[in-house]
Amino acid sequence: MDSASPASGGQGHIGYSVVPWKRGRGYATRALGLFLRDVEEESLPFVELITNTTNESSRRVIEKNGGVFVERFRGPDQQGGHEELRFRIPLPRPLNATPSHSSTARSGPP
Ligand SMILES: CC(C)(COP(=O)(O)OP(=O)(O)OC[C@H]1O[C@@H](n2cnc3c(N)ncnc32)[C@H](O)[C@@H]1OP(=O)(O)O)[C@@H](O)C(=O)NCCC(=O)NCCS
Repeated sequence: MDSASPASGGQGHIGYSVVPWKRGRGYATRALGLFLRDVEEESLPFVELITNTTNESSRRVIEKNGGVFVERFRGPDQQGGHEELRFRIPLPRPLNATPSHSSTARSGPP
């Protein structure tokens, strides 16, 4: 991960991936939530996350962490020029936007 203040026009990057056989258990939601706790300590006003229009699970992960839709835009040609969605998570997040582990975790085989 690298980051810079959005207020200064900087760009950051938050990426997450869960192995296919562990998906749907709330791990990405929880991981992003924990990461955002650290980001809040940096006093950034918000973070922005970008995802593909077809990536429903990533969109849910962002929304469950308080992400608000900002815009739909065409990504850079060098990366295929796909339609993408930008979300913003205002910081610090209100307490009710912080997902609890128990509300997202699911039971299933290890
Ligand atoms: C995106 C990703 C990290 C999510 O990980 P995860 O641990 O399964 O995520 P969570 O379990 O925390 O939450 C997944 C949410 O997406 C939902 N979801 C999953 N597949 C979905 C689908 N096809 N359509 C709609 N929602 C879907 C789940 O129901 C869940 O939402 P809910 O709690 O409201 O039911 C994982 O799918 C992944 O690694 N994908 C490949 C890499 C990637 O796309 N990274 C993000 C790049 S922006």
